[in-house]
Amino acid sequence: MSEAAPVYPVDARFAAQARITRDDYERLYAESVEQPDAFWGRVAQRLDWMRPPTQVKDVSYDLADFRIRWYADGELNASVNCLDRQLETRGDKAALIFEPDDPATPAQRISYRELHERVCRLGNALRNLGICKGDRVTIYLPMIPDAVVAMLACARIGAVHSVVFGGFAPQSIADRVKDCGSKLVITADEGLRGTKRVPLKANVDAALKMPGANSVETVLVVRHTGAAIDMQMPRDRWFDAVVAGQSAQCEPERMNAEDPLFILYTSGSTGKPKGVLHTTGGYLAYASYTHECVFDLREDDVYWCTADVGWVTGHSYGVYGPLANGATSLIFEGVPNYPDVSRFWQVIDKHQVTLFYTAPTAIRALMREGEAPVKSTSRASLRLLGTVGEPINPEAWRWYFDVVGDGRCPVVDTWWQTETGGILITPLPGATDLKPGSATKPFFGVRPALVDTNGQLLEGAAEGNLVLLDSWPGQMRSVYGDHQRFIDTYFRTYPGTYFTGDGCRRDADGYYWITGRVDDVINVSGHRIGTAEVESALVSHPKVAEAAVVGFPHDLKGQGIYAYVTLVAGESPGDELHRDLVAHVRKEIGPIATPDHLQWAPGLPKTRSGKIMRRILRKIAEDAPDQLGDTSTLADPSVVESLVRERRGR
Ligand code: WT7
Repeated sequence: MSEAAPVYPVDARFAAQARITRDDYERLYAESVEQPDAFWGRVAQRLDWMRPPTQVKDVSYDLADFRIRWYADGELNASVNCLDRQLETRGDKAALIFEPDDPATPAQRISYRELHERVCRLGNALRNLGICKGDRVTIYLPMIPDAVVAMLACARIGAVHSVVFGGFAPQSIADRVKDCGSKLVITADEGLRGTKRVPLKANVDAALKMPGANSVETVLVVRHTGAAIDMQMPRDRWFDAVVAGQSAQCEPERMNAEDPLFILYTSGSTGKPKGVLHTTGGYLAYASYTHECVFDLREDDVYWCTADVGWVTGHSYGVYGPLANGATSLIFEGVPNYPDVSRFWQVIDKHQVTLFYTAPTAIRALMREGEAPVKSTSRASLRLLGTVGEPINPEAWRWYFDVVGDGRCPVVDTWWQTETGGILITPLPGATDLKPGSATKPFFGVRPALVDTNGQLLEGAAEGNLVLLDSWPGQMRSVYGDHQRFIDTYFRTYPGTYFTGDGCRRDADGYYWITGRVDDVINVSGHRIGTAEVESALVSHPKVAEAAVVGFPHDLKGQGIYAYVTLVAGESPGDELHRDLVAHVRKEIGPIATPDHLQWAPGLPKTRSGKIMRRILRKIAEDAPDQLGDTSTLADPSVVESLVRERRGR
């Protein structure tokens, strides 16, 4: 992964038709950073405004005078931009293609006209249920069209949606409902993932019984699998029944560009997940513009982003970006290995997908199955491949390019975060030569920089912490309910910059290579998990005295979760307790937080002031005891020896 790494030059045929060529990139990038108002003012014109903005960028990272505002006097509605304005020229075009979990269940094609009607009906229903502009609505749904309908219906009436991924457990739902004070939850009877059923409604029931989650007045339930569920009247209402009879016209709320559009919870290095707050104008302009440029979008593309709407990728590149661009977005409820490991490629052939965007973890898992399940499909419709969520190892990149794309499709490795709202470092397929494993170059307006731990800027080829020197319209605006935490988390570490939490290398060509998180966040299969969250789940078990959790390299998941557990006096380790603790974490947070390894730790390596030295625990988990570094500051160095012995014995 060095400068000597092979370069895949821009495909000449692709470049000849591309929206953005090499020259365009150089020219537009220069303009975007030198004259951001002119550049982003023009980008704003891609949206339909109820009142066009006269202001563009109003940003200061100076802590004494901190503000991030874009298009601050503009007014618009996100759902109008995603739906109403498409009706005239694209009314019959498919906005969504829905591919269900089971290939035997018919796919659905939902036109812009139909999606508009469904959103309006639900918007009216929500208003009738007392939901007003600014109210929070929690969405806990499977990957079905109603999830998109729910998001856009909130946007239409100015309600702030908080989508909670269906893999989260009741406690996680309760925490998120409580934090933002949701008045209404939209869920389904069950979700389907391969042969498994996810008891969504039962999870909501359990969550709403938990202390503090009492802001919810109404639960709307989509009948999806038809499973028998408990309906608690008058709180619970069938989704179908409340939308039936509603008008298919719904007056959109006039939203200020800086009014909230959604909250999305994500893990940080400390404490409970934080509610990342995105606003309307800048977010939508940025999501739609990046979607068009990075995927080189054409009118007749069939675009498939495999991310669940429970993650930011699903928000920006499954829903808001593509629909604001009038694209056809494929929604897939299932999993890559059901009914078999050809499923992704079969779906691509079935719906003639042209643009495909997925995660390295999925690529690695499918790569392990060999070429045959790919080669049994055509994939001739594909013209571009994308990845997101974690660093992609060059081997997986090449397999994606050679085997999935038959060597014809550029691969865009897109680096961004929940906080950034949209893609920040990425190739543009007609402009950027590719290097497997590198997210390559900054998007327009993005000014990445590397700093050492003292905050010193590093020039040229270097490795350090990745910061961003200036704002872009899609940047998050606050942590919901805790603006100070927003400032402290992102702007205090390296004053005058936004700190990403990522480590990164820049090579001699100015290409960026993300090396992974440098904070206490683990990236498991492209999903962020805070070590602190897993630790607090573990210590909430009555038999656990103390726990320390670190990430370790994992072939498929990128990183796995490694937990060190100290039991309370009198308890003894054993297989049953091991199983109990793993199940306890799944129950407290959800299956995505399942520890891969749990090691009994009679003691943890601590400094004399009592701070756990994670650096050492990470090295033990990696099974690299020769790289432990300086252990002389430990209160009791013998703890390390016993942990290493135990680890080696595994
Ligand atoms: C973290 C953000 C943004 C969509 C999904 C994840 C890592 C993301 C890449 C990439 C290397 C990547 C970073 C980042 N990450 N994309 N292309 N190459 N690392 O969003 O859950 O907010 O996680 O994912 O470490 O900080 P998220």
